[in-house]
Amino acid sequence: MKQLHLIANLKMNLTKEMLIPYFEKLGKISNQTNNVVGVCVPFIYLQLAKEKLQNSKVLVGAQNMHHEDFGAFTGEVSAKMLTDFGTNLVIIGHSERRNLFFESDEIVNKKLKKALDCNLTAILCVGETLQERQEKKTINVLEKQLNLAINDIEPNKLKNIYIAYEPVWAIGTGVSATKQDAEQACLFIKNYFINKFKFAPKVLYGGSLNENNAFELLSNPSVNGGLIGGASLNINGFEKIINTNIN
Ligand code: PGA
Repeated sequence: MKQLHLIANLKMNLTKEMLIPYFEKLGKISNQTNNVVGVCVPFIYLQLAKEKLQNSKVLVGAQNMHHEDFGAFTGEVSAKMLTDFGTNLVIIGHSERRNLFFESDEIVNKKLKKALDCNLTAILCVGETLQERQEKKTINVLEKQLNLAINDIEPNKLKNIYIAYEPVWAIGTGVSATKQDAEQACLFIKNYFINKFKFAPKVLYGGSLNENNAFELLSNPSVNGGLIGGASLNINGFEKIINTNIN
């Protein structure tokens, strides 16, 4: 059976009251599946997630971090602070960070470097906009984003990352990539690493992945799992995705 890596990105959603039963159920679900389960929560809930999920196999992650260790960066959290919490996972370069918070490829590179130096498992997000897709530039965009993100990072350290292919136009829209388009992009990502470094990281698909299309998207040979936003907010829906079985 194919082992899937299914990681929830809760974004800025849910409250403590909602998260307590959510984590309790997620812990139980994770202990009954061979799939790898993770959840990336707002910083302020990392402690709660750690406490509630300590007897489970769930990976607890953050959704962002700053690339400096400390300093006058009001409102920011460093990688070292995340590891203080026992956090082992962090999303880097999500398109919402790139677009809404103006994170450049250069900043994404600095964050990725720091995350890996601190032994965090990074989920590096890449993906094209609708316009880039219409102009048939998807593969060029992925190549450019990957080149800039991994610039000057020791290849060995890149073994411990996930690459999430998240077409920007599919995020939160209810319109996912087709099975074929997801495979084509994820295969490109695998080959990009194989050609450069002779190994391939795990590749996740993200963008309107839900309980109805999970099987189809995740059964692609180059897709190792998913990064799930909206459909992870309801624990019963996320459970169905986690329990996807692919032979
Ligand atoms: P979505 O978000 O599943 O709501 O489209 C995915 C993501 O942004 O990681």
